[in-house]
This record gives sequence, structure tokens and C-alpha cells, in this order.
Amino acid sequence: MVTDLSTQTKAQEENPFGSDGLYPDPKGLLEKDKIDIEKLRSLSGKSIISANQFDKELVLEICKLAALLEASQIAESHPLDGKIVITAFFEPSTRTRLSFESAVLRLDGKILSIPSGMVTGVAKGESLADIGEMFNAYGDLVVMRHTETGALEELTHNLRLPLINAGNGSGEHPTQALADWFAILKWKSQLKDDAIKKEDQIHLGILGSPGSMRAVNSFLRMSLLFKSGVRKISIVSEMADPLGPDLEKLIKNSSIEFEVTNDINDVVSDLDVIYMNSIAFLGDSYKALDSRYKLNADSNLKEDSVVLHPLARLDELDPNLDGTHHNLYFTQAHGAVFIRQALMISVLNRFDRLPKRDILINNNKL
Ligand code: CP
Repeated sequence: MVTDLSTQTKAQEENPFGSDGLYPDPKGLLEKDKIDIEKLRSLSGKSIISANQFDKELVLEICKLAALLEASQIAESHPLDGKIVITAFFEPSTRTRLSFESAVLRLDGKILSIPSGMVTGVAKGESLADIGEMFNAYGDLVVMRHTETGALEELTHNLRLPLINAGNGSGEHPTQALADWFAILKWKSQLKDDAIKKEDQIHLGILGSPGSMRAVNSFLRMSLLFKSGVRKISIVSEMADPLGPDLEKLIKNSSIEFEVTNDINDVVSDLDVIYMNSIAFLGDSYKALDSRYKLNADSNLKEDSVVLHPLARLDELDPNLDGTHHNLYFTQAHGAVFIRQALMISVLNRFDRLPKRDILINNNKL
């Protein structure tokens, strides 16, 4: 088939992936300060389980290293050469497993991939504790997704390798939150400043129930770290109590104004960042959504607002937004490769493999 290039949109011409949407330049995150390698080194050998493990400075340093990876050819220095990453996915995934695996392969590491629990001894009744013991001999780092919130604890019973939580049931999805904030900070790098101007502060809308949905749970926890840049959070949910006691306490103790509504149309015209979610997917079934939980190109969006979505999407996010400047969700998904590279370089302490460039170094131990 011959592609008609004249039909390409301006956005497609301007971004490296040829996809629709907004693709902010990652160099905006690298303009002022160097990357603090010592801060990143605090992750060496550590498991990444929850967004609670991060402070704002750590999120910023990971995003800056990811920006450098996106903007340069660091991969040529083979930072993960000789390392084996086990991706153990006991629940379906498009983006998380493939972006982790792409991240490893592009840095010259190797992958042992478990795309489904049914290809392991779990299919015969084997315990996760025993599988964790086996992983110790097979790799250097484990990335696990599971349908059960408590699966991480079971795996770590015998596991002595660092573990990255790639989504545990209704618990958390901390690397998704890093990818989310990487996209937001590329779009508006002023949000990293403590002394941000009032007019640059954002009103953040979150569609979903953070108390029971892992992506928005981790995203909300990480968003509370950016209290200087977030002036208000509106949660759009059909649940009476979408937060649960833990998150409600956290958000109430922050200085950020917040509200809960059950209709996105009540708040959309004031939102700067809208974090959509697949709230229609319920276990093995789908429920129909009405217009209170849907966004499309005819919604009353602010001119310069952006839309995020961890994807996969259903009909809450109309594809007619894909070709607009509101679409930050494709860059959010594409940028996840660089965020996961930055995280794995940090956890595996491979800073000595990075090129010794001025922009990188704030210490002389590289
Ligand atoms: N964002 C996300 O977790 O997508 P997948 O389920 O495709 O991994």
C-alpha cells in the first residue's frame, strides 16, 4: 500500500514517532540544572512498589534522566549490557510489558519474558513464593504485573532481586505515574519549580476512583508531591467515596483544594490537565457510560488543556481527540520507554556506563 504523505497532520510531521498528538521537546526538562546522579543512586538495588517511595526531587531526577535518554543517543553506550530483566506478567498488558522490554532491549540488556501466568508452573498450582525463589537464579531484576494486590508480597517471600511493580490488582502502578508526570513536565516544565507563577498553576481533573483503581491511585499520590504547581484537583467519579480513607487523609493534609463530582461536564471548562481512565471495564464485563464520563473533541475543553489516559481506552475517550493538540496520551505512552530505562539504570546502578557529559554530571564518581 502506498502512503499518501500529503494527508499527514502537522503534529505527525513534528514528532519522532509519526503519531497524532502533542509531542513536547524533552530538552525543556534539561535546560537549567544537571541531573543529580547521587539522588538517583538512592534507588540502587531497591524494589519499586508504590508511588509513596518517591519525593518530588526523585521524580524530577528520573524525569530528567528520561529526557536525556529521549533526546540523545545514550543507548549507544549499552548501559544494561550483561543484565537480564525478567518481565513476569500474570495479567494482560500492551504498554507496560512491551515498553519495559523495549527499554531493556534498546539499552542492550536481555529479557526473560513471561507474557501470561499460564506459561508458568502457576498453571499446575505452583506458588508465587516458589517462583520467586527460581527468579533469583535466572535474572537481575523482576518486573511483575498481577491481578491480585497481595501477589507482590507472596513473590518477595523468597525473592532477593529488586522487584518493580508493574500493576498489582487494585493496588498501585507506580511506573505509570512516573510516565504520566514525565509527559506533564515535558508539556509544562514550570511545574517543577517551587516558586511557580500563579498563572502557571494547574487545575487537575481525574476521572476514576483512586481508592480502587491502581493507575489513578499512584497518579494521585505522585500529583500531591507537586503541590506548588497544582492549585486544585477535581475527582470525577460515580462512586460516593472514590478515595477511601488513606487517600482522603493524604489529600486533605495537602494544601491542594479538592472536590468530587459525578459529571465531567461540571468541571471540564476549567481543567488544564484531564486524566481519563477506563472506568467502564469491570472485571470481565463492560458497563455503558453516559456523557458524564466521556470526553470528545466537542467537549468544552480549555484551549490549551491536555488530556492523559494510561490506556487501554474504551468509549470514555473519543479517537476524534487523537489529531488535536489536547492529545498528550500518545506521548505519555511513548515516553514510558525512557522513564523505564531511567528507572532500570538507577535500580541496577549502571551510571558508570553512561557517557560522561557535562549535562549529566553533578558528581565526579561516574
Ligand atoms: N497503562 C497500562 O498499564 O497499559 P497496559 O495495561 O497495556 O500495560
